[in-house]
Amino acid sequence: MRSSWFNKFSAIFGPRPPLSWLLLCLVCVLALIAVFGSSSSGAFYSVTPTRVPDIYTNYRRLKEQAAVDYLELRSLFLAPSRQKEIDLCGKERENHVPCYNVSASLIAGYKDGEEFDRHCELSREGEQCLIRAPKEYKIPLRWPTGRDVIWSGNVKITKDQFLSSGSMTKRLMLLEENQIAFHSEDGLIFDGVKDYSRQIAEMIGLGSDYEFLQAGVRNVLDIGCGFGSFGAHLVSLKVMAVCIAAYEATGSQVQLALERGLPAMLGNFIARQLPYPSLSFDMVHCAQCGILWDQKDGMLLLEVDRVLKPGGYFVLTSPTGKPYGSSSNMKKRNALTPIEDLTQDICWSLLAQQDETFIWQKTSDTNCYTSRKQGAIPLCKEDHEIQTYYRPLVSCISGTTIKRWIPIQNRSSGVQPEDIFEDLQVMRAALKNYWSLLTPLIFSDHPKRPGDEDPVPPFNMVRNVMDMNAHYGGLNAAFLEERKSVWVMNVVPVGAPNTLPLILDQGFAGVLHDCMKDLFLEMDRILRPEGWVVLSDKMGTIEMARMLATQVRWEARVIDLQNGSDQRLLVCQKPFLRK
Ligand SMILES: *[C@@H]1O[C@H](CO)[C@@H](O)[C@H](O)[C@H]1NC(C)=O
Ligand SMILES: *[C@@H]1O[C@H](CO)[C@@H](O)[C@H](O)[C@H]1NC(C)=O
Ligand SMILES: *[C@@H]1O[C@H](CO)[C@@H](O)[C@H](O)[C@H]1NC(C)=O
Repeated sequence: MRSSWFNKFSAIFGPRPPLSWLLLCLVCVLALIAVFGSSSSGAFYSVTPTRVPDIYTNYRRLKEQAAVDYLELRSLFLAPSRQKEIDLCGKERENHVPCYNVSASLIAGYKDGEEFDRHCELSREGEQCLIRAPKEYKIPLRWPTGRDVIWSGNVKITKDQFLSSGSMTKRLMLLEENQIAFHSEDGLIFDGVKDYSRQIAEMIGLGSDYEFLQAGVRNVLDIGCGFGSFGAHLVSLKVMAVCIAAYEATGSQVQLALERGLPAMLGNFIARQLPYPSLSFDMVHCAQCGILWDQKDGMLLLEVDRVLKPGGYFVLTSPTGKPYGSSSNMKKRNALTPIEDLTQDICWSLLAQQDETFIWQKTSDTNCYTSRKQGAIPLCKEDHEIQTYYRPLVSCISGTTIKRWIPIQNRSSGVQPEDIFEDLQVMRAALKNYWSLLTPLIFSDHPKRPGDEDPVPPFNMVRNVMDMNAHYGGLNAAFLEERKSVWVMNVVPVGAPNTLPLILDQGFAGVLHDCMKDLFLEMDRILRPEGWVVLSDKMGTIEMARMLATQVRWEARVIDLQNGSDQRLLVCQKPFLRK
């Protein structure tokens, strides 16, 4: 159960864990990748299978204990029998993402774009080392400033890539001395994104883009999001826009979006399905996203159809002003282009076309499929809600028999299952505990940077959060309730009950995922310097985790919740290693 997902978490983040890790797999992990505001930034992982009592009252005492615990931790770590600290990797691994190694893929014979796909089977057992932060790395600015201004040393982008960035969603940046500025909101420079968003709203019949939510558009999948400006705008409208883009060693769209504190993950339209259930998104958006939709027998478009909810929208902005894929030869006026043919075949209707933008709407009526012409693309036979996880693309229409076939325009005020409520209750309490612990002050010797004010929790210290075992998204909901400016990547482990649809239906970001290999190394890789990890489990497991945490050089301390149970929290902070 738990162990199986944990074991399989390798898929995105790396290869398989050694057996000894299976014990840890019993732990449910909530991983919060957190961006701490001006004074610190970081990530935060936590493991919380059960209720955590409120420890605010214990806070003072905890602080007093901190010094003692730290000494204890130190001696544990210094004991000669313990394993040594893990070394830093060489600079060449700075951009390493497990399962993505284009040269290895080429050697293995992948071509036609598949070399850029995810190939975990080619991952080799690498040396165990900690990925360095870039040489010029600086702690990001506090949200929301950090959304519009980032440190150029934090992202891998070449001047050429910067200058050649041509598309509408990419154009909006200015390189200042050591900063990249995105003036998407203040209108200082050409602000195409707002107009563009309004145009899309009007094309689907709304008065303005403020009406997206009312119209049922809550979850948007933005394919190839450029520098994330469209998503940033949607997020400001309280629409959850998740950027997916292919792996790129430099100029990574995913890296840029995450650096700005915007939801993003690697996702390919190449040969596999995306790690989302069918009927997940209200809108899929592609602005010059570089996908040739009429290729591969339309399977890429069928994948969009699969993840679209009934009544959902596909927005395609194509510089040629034609919804062509690769075949750009002009057709006769009333002849259908291949993509128009396809869209009719899968019961999408072209709602509107303006300038370079086309909007289709997926049918909300399953009868449409039965009334299609002979020889149309078939419905998939196997259509129960299996946990989709990077399966090969299919050439049939998915999701039509799923119970969740509810048009987005009809989205019920919905009675939420009781489990969701309970999950939220538990997480409300847990969040209070975590938040109160996410202060460097608790580490008596925490090196405060000169000039820094102490962070005042709860303040906008955290932005990017990953909940590694999200259940019903209760932690996400608790964050929102507490009005924290965070977004949460809700990870539902493959093998756990498939709660992802329920998470997405709440308008949250979520993904199916599998176990990581070398979990602590992998957490360390995706954590920002000064990011946090919180694990919650039984004492024995926590003791073990503490050893591993010290090996990856995190500051770590165990918190006893003092309620008579053997449940413990392990709160860790990744240091900013500069050497
Ligand atoms: C103490 O807290 C843990 C973790 O939240 C919980 O599972 C346990 O039931 C509590 N124990 C008591 C005695 O209240
Ligand atoms: C990528 O694959 C190549 C060829 O197999 C190998 O030499 C290189 O070390 C790999 N890179 C990483 C980061 O694993
Ligand atoms: C959507 O709502 C309309 C009117 O409120 C209703 O007639 C229709 O049955 C609903 N459709 C579904 C699939 O729930």
